[in-house]
Amino acid sequence: MSSEEWLAVAGKTFVVTGGSSGIGDAIVKELIADGANVVNADLKPGKYQADKLLWVETDVTSKAAVDNLVAKTLAHFGTIDGLVNNAGINIPRILVDPKAPDGQYVIDEANYDKMFNVNVKSVFLLSSAIGKVLVKNHHGAIVNMSSESGLEGSQGASVYSATKGAINGFTRAWAKELGQYDVRVIGVAPGVLEATGLRTIEYEEGLAYSRHITVEQLRAGYSKTSTIPLGRSGKLAEVANLVAFFLSDRAGYMTGQTVNVSGGKSRG
Ligand SMILES: NC(=O)c1ccc[n+]([C@@H]2O[C@H](COP(=O)([O-])OP(=O)(O)OC[C@H]3O[C@@H](n4cnc5c(N)ncnc54)[C@H](O)[C@@H]3O)[C@@H](O)[C@H]2O)c1
Repeated sequence: MSSEEWLAVAGKTFVVTGGSSGIGDAIVKELIADGANVVNADLKPGKYQADKLLWVETDVTSKAAVDNLVAKTLAHFGTIDGLVNNAGINIPRILVDPKAPDGQYVIDEANYDKMFNVNVKSVFLLSSAIGKVLVKNHHGAIVNMSSESGLEGSQGASVYSATKGAINGFTRAWAKELGQYDVRVIGVAPGVLEATGLRTIEYEEGLAYSRHITVEQLRAGYSKTSTIPLGRSGKLAEVANLVAFFLSDRAGYMTGQTVNVSGGKSRG
């Protein structure tokens, strides 16, 4: 049996936010390979192109943009079978910096609002707009891209961890609200992965500063067996595989939980 037959998502339509880079791009490619129709909701187009892939320019923090996305998706593919809330950002910052109380690495209102808007508000906007379609169809799944740090906390990424903890709350509560309509809500929590667009030099410098280590020491940790039992970073495809499974009816009895894909790094 081919993977396409096993998952049986061919001809179904999925909306993926942030599908132009990193994990989102891997999810888009996996779903296209499985025969699905995919709508990529991102600020910018991705490099990857396919017949059944539609990019709709979307700022996921804007309700008007999300309404436009849903209207265009329905006009193009007729219905929606699932949503992947993947778009997210991480700006490393610390709560208190005794050496530089107003320094560049201290959390301020602007970076707090930015992270909560992109990582949390977007999940509410997309899920409420697309949830209506899924409830009407009495079928479908919402997959929320969380993070291992949302379950465990992460030094230098407290606001980010809080945003992911918030969406874990959405996952648990919406599963309870939407189960009666046969709509599942499930979270995926990756640990350390191969580099994506998120891992910029500014990101690494901020995280290293907050942990009192060098960027080189930070990088060495990406494959440390003392913290990652499997001793390597995760592949983007390994996250995409799990997302495709959760969107499919193969995961028909799973809802309301956030599952780690972290090489054993955190207890979850
Ligand atoms: N990379 C990791 O190691 C890792 C680990 C755990 C969780 N995650 C989560 O995975 C998700 C994807 O991260 P990634 O590493 O692939 O990042 P990435 O930066 O490679 O990709 C994120 C995509 O989201 C898009 N995006 C950002 N703001 C947007 C907005 N306002 N509207 C629409 N699109 C927007 C970007 O254009 C980009 O294409 C995020 O939610 C992130 O928190 C990543």
